[in-house]
Amino acid sequence: MASRCIVRGSINVDEFFHVKHIVYPGETISSHELSKRAGGKGANQAVAVAKAGASVVLVGSVGEDGFWVVEYLKDSGVDVSDIQTVSESTGRAVIQLTDDGQNSIILFKGANYSTHPKKSIPSGATHILLQNEIPFNDTLAYLNAAAEASLSTVTIFNPSPMPSNVEIKAFPWDKLAWLVVNEGEASNLYQALSNGTPDIPVPDCSELACANLSAYPTLVQLSSQIPKINIVCTLGAAGVLALIPSLRKTTQVSSSLHSDPIFLPAVKLKNSVVDTTGAGDCFTGYLVAGLMEMHDKGAKVLQRQDVIYILKRCVQAAGMCVEKRGAMESIPLARDIV
Ligand code: ADP
Ligand code: NA
Repeated sequence: MASRCIVRGSINVDEFFHVKHIVYPGETISSHELSKRAGGKGANQAVAVAKAGASVVLVGSVGEDGFWVVEYLKDSGVDVSDIQTVSESTGRAVIQLTDDGQNSIILFKGANYSTHPKKSIPSGATHILLQNEIPFNDTLAYLNAAAEASLSTVTIFNPSPMPSNVEIKAFPWDKLAWLVVNEGEASNLYQALSNGTPDIPVPDCSELACANLSAYPTLVQLSSQIPKINIVCTLGAAGVLALIPSLRKTTQVSSSLHSDPIFLPAVKLKNSVVDTTGAGDCFTGYLVAGLMEMHDKGAKVLQRQDVIYILKRCVQAAGMCVEKRGAMESIPLARDIV
């Protein structure tokens, strides 16, 4: 059976107001340009999975003002048959953007927080991808349903925006296979989970390149709290660091970790950085598509070289994403990755 990914997540209209400066309290200013784009982390990541060449359905909600977004998602290759229309308006990000690149953002949850009738995991789902821009209980319901549906359903969680400490502690970590974070999120999660317990000793890093990364000790500490979960930590312009305990053990691990860390530097850009919005979502979507590809090849247990192959493509795709304006629009197609 070919892999199919379910994304239960957010759909937004991102409204960019181009302004001379961010508006002050009590001030009225006019915007010299207004642009609208489809956004939301659920939608961005679903588009990334689709553009990476994998089969994906997005379960979410829009208002009547969001039909064009649904059309855009459909054109990008996402199955939109489980996107419902509700009476609330579509989720919104109102973004003030100055010429020198500063921004300020107001988020409106809108339709993303409405009740969705689909509570069970559609049959044929092999991978479940979740973020945190819908009600936390809906995210939990999908994780629980995935665990009930099949032990082999692969679950991936990108906890963005960060859940509260209470939510982090109550999270069913035993039902999660893959966690995708940036360095700040890794640190926040560790603080919440460790609750002041002392840090464990950090083993020397076998890969010289990661010995200097501040994210390395952070990930080791986080992994000590959730030792079975594969953690992929994006490092912006520095690349990615991953701790993958589920790897097939072929060689002796050189430290007390379950497996040696994997570090890949970011790609050297051909052009300058234009817009990093959505780079993390592009990365996450390509990661899931990569896992799906391995699944379709029949790989039951991932090997180290499989993960390196997948992460290389993620880094290449995300690198291309930062060279173009926009989030979804800048996610490259698999065939265009060089
Ligand atoms: P987030 O926005 O979620 O915090 P990151 O900033 O870590 O995500 O970026 C995700 C990925 O995008 C990185 O792992 C890297 O591969 C790529 N990336 C981000 N910024 C750059 C950059 N300046 N040059 C090359 N690649 C980049
Ligand atoms: Na971009």
